[in-house]
Amino acid sequence: MKIFSGVQPTNQLHIGNYLGAIKQWVALQENNECIYCIVDLHALTIPYDPKQLPAKIRETVVALIAAGLDPEKCIIFAQSQIKEHAELAWLLNTICPLGELERMTQYKDKSKKFKDNINVGLLDYPVLMAGDILLYKAGGVPVGKDQEQHVELTRTLARKFNQKFGKVFDEPKSLILQEGAKIMSLMDPKKKMSKSDDAKSCIFLFDAPEAITKKIMAAATDSGKDIKYNLTKKPGISNLLMIYSLLTGKTTQELEKEFAGKNYGEFKKSLAEVLVNYLEPFRKKQTEFAARDVYVQEILKQGATKAQKIAETTMREVKQKMGLI
Ligand code: AMP
Ligand code: TRP
Repeated sequence: MKIFSGVQPTNQLHIGNYLGAIKQWVALQENNECIYCIVDLHALTIPYDPKQLPAKIRETVVALIAAGLDPEKCIIFAQSQIKEHAELAWLLNTICPLGELERMTQYKDKSKKFKDNINVGLLDYPVLMAGDILLYKAGGVPVGKDQEQHVELTRTLARKFNQKFGKVFDEPKSLILQEGAKIMSLMDPKKKMSKSDDAKSCIFLFDAPEAITKKIMAAATDSGKDIKYNLTKKPGISNLLMIYSLLTGKTTQELEKEFAGKNYGEFKKSLAEVLVNYLEPFRKKQTEFAARDVYVQEILKQGATKAQKIAETTMREVKQKMGLI
């Protein structure tokens, strides 16, 4: 299957990004044609520093490689290097009903969070994302739960385009994991873990062991003292149990048994150890690749060359169908 997904170069990757999305990207690269994009055009929709953006794009490449992507097995490139993304987004804008965009959860959340910067890009964000996916005619889109609505819109736009102008696109499916699709904040387990929140609410992939331990020990827990998985009554402990389970392969029931009679402190100490050990090879690789800037630039260059070919072919087809000469 052809796979496409993207990540914003906005901040460091956290374990929510990894367990919800990147872990799937790594597994899928073995047997599929995978295209992974650093979506720098999307990142312009919230306040950012132009001076820092180039470094952040390269840091995101390093992070993806440290997390297991292999540039020999997949295409990694930066969105802004391929003009066709913006071009297709414009064309899709002309068939996208405004109401579809106004009801998007992410738009509503972000326009609340960034009240002073409700720009048109923020509203149009899902159309650009649809363009990203359709440009490569992807069949599968591995993402976390929060992106499901956007992939749904992508299917709607593909269908509309085909009906209006003739068949060009297949309707892509989102690939969302049963477990891990929504890792919650350590500070407030009712909210998803998010890059733009307080650093204390996230475990970043390259956090130092001391920072990991400190954050886990300070993570919000619930009343009572049992280590039990119960999303409504015990959202804090349940989130930690889920993270523990995903990192060790043990089920939450097995973990409940293992920690029966133990207190929150003992459980958290054990989870911190699991995390520190799991992330150790990530940290090592990150340090190694952070020092290889020329190699990272080369990955982006080669990725862009490959992506360009596919993008041009699709755009030719799209423009011809739409009556553009
Ligand atoms: P972003 O941080 O918005 O660039 O997201 C990159 C990928 O990580 C997307 O596929 C998101 O759906 C996924 N993701 C982000 N936050 C979480 C989370 N807390 N739990 C699971 N997946 C997430
Ligand atoms: N919107 C996604 C996010 O915030 C990133 C993204 C942009 C994306 N274009 C995409 C994901 C295309 C999958 C496919 O995480």
